[in-house]
Amino acid sequence: MELSLPNSIDRVLLTEEQIQERVQELAEEVSADYEGIEHVDFILVGVLKGSFIFLSDLARRLTVPHRVDFIALSSYQEKAEATGEVRLIMDTRVDIAGRHVLVVEDILDTGYTLAYLERLFGARQPASLRSCVLLSKPQRHRVEVQVDYLGFEIPDVWVVGYGLDYADRFRTLPYIASLKPRVYGGPSQGEA
Ligand code: IMP
Ligand code: MG
Repeated sequence: MELSLPNSIDRVLLTEEQIQERVQELAEEVSADYEGIEHVDFILVGVLKGSFIFLSDLARRLTVPHRVDFIALSSYQEKAEATGEVRLIMDTRVDIAGRHVLVVEDILDTGYTLAYLERLFGARQPASLRSCVLLSKPQRHRVEVQVDYLGFEIPDVWVVGYGLDYADRFRTLPYIASLKPRVYGGPSQGEA
């Protein structure tokens, strides 16, 4: 089946305006909490690829100085659901030891990705470690993780847009929409 937009999208869950308004609020919260921080000490770590648009909007709205870095992970959906297996594809460039780290993630699904990052980064002795997650699917959580800043809770549906993909498609839609269940009903292999 062709993955055209009308074939694939079910309905818009969050409009561009709703997302932008919430991202502004999150940026204000983060800016207030990290007030007075030095540029070298504050590192936003975006989880590729899904967070790239959220991170760029959030970062540009922060009023505190910060650095930007990325990490790339891969979780194989079918397998990951059973085992929680996450693979490190690309590590951060900056040394986070002694720095304040804010992990920026697109969506909290099972929680395995964020749990993996808590372990990985926690072992590197950052001055602090927090997470900022745009979306959360509470019905799907399998492990307990700490989310310090959350954009929206959504139902258990596959969503695309604003960085999120299905088979690497639909990432650059300005809104967040659910996919028609028949599109994602089959086995999927996802990239984080
Ligand atoms: P986890 O299950 O919490 O480890 O999430 C793994 C990754 O799956 C997330 O970082 C997303 O990149 C991806 N993911 C989970 N749910 C969705 C979705 O509805 N749309 C697009 N990507 C998703
Ligand atoms: Mg992700």
